[in-house]
Amino acid sequence: MGRYDETYNRWRNDPEGFWCAASEAIDWERRPEIILDQAHTPIPAWFPDGQLNTCFNAVDRHVRDGRGQQAALIYDSPVTETVRTYTYAELQDRVSHLAGALAREGVGRGDRVVIYMPMIPEAVFTMLACARLGAVHSVVFGGFGAEELASRIIDSGARVIVCASCGIGPAGVMPYKPLVDRALDLVGSDQSRCVVVQREQGPADLIPGRDIEFERFLDGAPAVDCVPVGATDPLYILYTSGTTGIPKGIVRDNGGHAVALSWSMDAVYGAQSGDVYWAASDIGWVVGHSYIVYGPLLHGCTTVLYEGKPVGTPDAGAYWRVIEQHRVSVMFTAPTAVRAIKREDSDGRLIAEYDLGSLRTVFLAGERCDPDTLVWTSDHLKRPVVDHWWQTESGWPMAANSVGLELLPVKPGSPTKPVPGYEIHVIDSDGLPAAVGEQGAICVRLPLPPGFTPTLWNGEERFIQAYLAPQPGYYSTADAGYYDEDGYLYVMGRTDDVINVAGHRLSTGRLEEILSSHQDVAESAVVGVADAQRGQVPLGLVVLKNGVEHRDAQVAAELVALVRERLGPVAALKQVAVVDALPKTRSGKILRATIRQIADGRAWKVPPTIEDAGVLDDLVPLLRRLGYADAGVLVTEQ
Ligand code: COA
Ligand code: AMP
Repeated sequence: MGRYDETYNRWRNDPEGFWCAASEAIDWERRPEIILDQAHTPIPAWFPDGQLNTCFNAVDRHVRDGRGQQAALIYDSPVTETVRTYTYAELQDRVSHLAGALAREGVGRGDRVVIYMPMIPEAVFTMLACARLGAVHSVVFGGFGAEELASRIIDSGARVIVCASCGIGPAGVMPYKPLVDRALDLVGSDQSRCVVVQREQGPADLIPGRDIEFERFLDGAPAVDCVPVGATDPLYILYTSGTTGIPKGIVRDNGGHAVALSWSMDAVYGAQSGDVYWAASDIGWVVGHSYIVYGPLLHGCTTVLYEGKPVGTPDAGAYWRVIEQHRVSVMFTAPTAVRAIKREDSDGRLIAEYDLGSLRTVFLAGERCDPDTLVWTSDHLKRPVVDHWWQTESGWPMAANSVGLELLPVKPGSPTKPVPGYEIHVIDSDGLPAAVGEQGAICVRLPLPPGFTPTLWNGEERFIQAYLAPQPGYYSTADAGYYDEDGYLYVMGRTDDVINVAGHRLSTGRLEEILSSHQDVAESAVVGVADAQRGQVPLGLVVLKNGVEHRDAQVAAELVALVRERLGPVAALKQVAVVDALPKTRSGKILRATIRQIADGRAWKVPPTIEDAGVLDDLVPLLRRLGYADAGVLVTEQ
């Protein structure tokens, strides 16, 4: 029996013993005597009587144990032409003083702090400083606009916002502070405090009394120690898109999170303390939380914070330059980033220009990895390339080729097998286990492992209804897929109205809400259609109100601008088409899946429940004109 099977069986036979052993990797202020408490089923509590501090485990203990002079964080920013390294000792110094400044501001255990920043070291310092105080951070991705930011500030109840004056992209400065100002206007509280990192590339105006410059905020602040917190206390809230317009506040606890991430660094990623680990993601996403910040630091690795893109900063060799320059051992990125590189350097000419000798393994996640992308990457890098599957809710991989245990044969298109900790079932429409090769709903058997979100912020009932009610005894991932005859899992796509655009998770419900708010729009539908680069892109269809004539093109352009303003540029909604009617069932449900099938050029049927089949007759040529439906591929069946 291989090491993967042996470990998986060991976990399955004794989950509590397994996680008790894994918890040894963590320094506890009070070692837990209870490993799993299921008294409050269906929400399990891991290590409920344990006490720890996540920042202590990620920073201070490494200094204590002699890693003070090891690089903890390498900030590599091609957009500002900066490379700066912080040792663990320096990180401890920065974080403990920033925690002192936040404490002076009144931030303490359980208080929420919103972080709206690009990929700069101060963002990581702020996350860790919150953890140090037992405060709860909520990072909002910089590509979201003011309204999204405001809704997260309101839902989390944060009084302190730490932001930067701007982000910097390949095209130049992207102001952040005006969006914060607008968001705080929407929040409408006069209690807010806004701490601003002034970047010389685009400094911001400060509002006296409310705003303070980051360095001034730190002036004279004492270094403070780590505050022990309960293992089940929240470490952070990370909002993610659900099926409705209201984002879900995914809660992460301290104890289970530290244990699971530490374990995954070794077992899944095969990373050792001292290795350089690079996740080319963003701190605004779960990958950034888990594998730019907490995972590598908990494990005593050096993490790379990369403020750049896979292409355009300056070229498609950027990733390979970073690997060579910082001697990266393990790298993590999204398939969409590889596709962007492949488009510009299809024969891998730039790869050959760099010494990638340090690189052991590349991990891909964030969206389904098409086999071509995986094969191209492994052919050119000549190293294992591992597709692995997880989601914001899980916080760490659910299915992977766990190379730290054993490299299993790679099957392109499959994220391999369940990671120990996860018993994953594919369930058919009758609620029964699906046969091998038969697609169904992918569900995780309860109890969920350490590190998995225990609940939603302000939303325990929503958590139960959204995730636990659909399939009793299981967590429903909202992904569909199947197992093959070798027990490999294939994850094919979402079963809900969440779409994945360039590795970014978006709610079509939220997009529709914005389109429908336009004064001329009667109703709207948004679907995610297949895109060779971004995986999916949103396509909006709108029906205008009576009397709004001859303005189709103008309204469509206004709608694209409206989504960009209200949700943010990350929505990447570029195409809105005006139609006479939306295809619906007789009970009024919009047939989004059918629209998607047609736009993707896949086989589709006229649904028997359709209210007016003629609507589809109009839609097909329209989608073809828009460039979506390839007439040669389209198959219509009755
Ligand atoms: N702050 C402000 N604006 C941002 C932003 C940020 N942090 N991130 C993205 N945006 C803006 C972009 O500038 C772009 O605006 P534009 O329409 O004016 O060009 C828009 O949001 C869309 O951004 P994106 O979808 O990221 O496209 P891109 O062309 O800038 O980059 C990729 C393409 C593939 C490089 C990028 O999408 C990527 O790295 N994706 C991987 C995502 C990921 O890591 N997911 C987590 C799982 S690993
Ligand atoms: P997020 O919560 O933003 O990380 O998005 C999670 C969703 O992205 C999952 O539910 C999947 O739909 C998709 N996803 C992530 N990784 C993979 C993968 N390796 N294969 C297929 N889908 C993936």
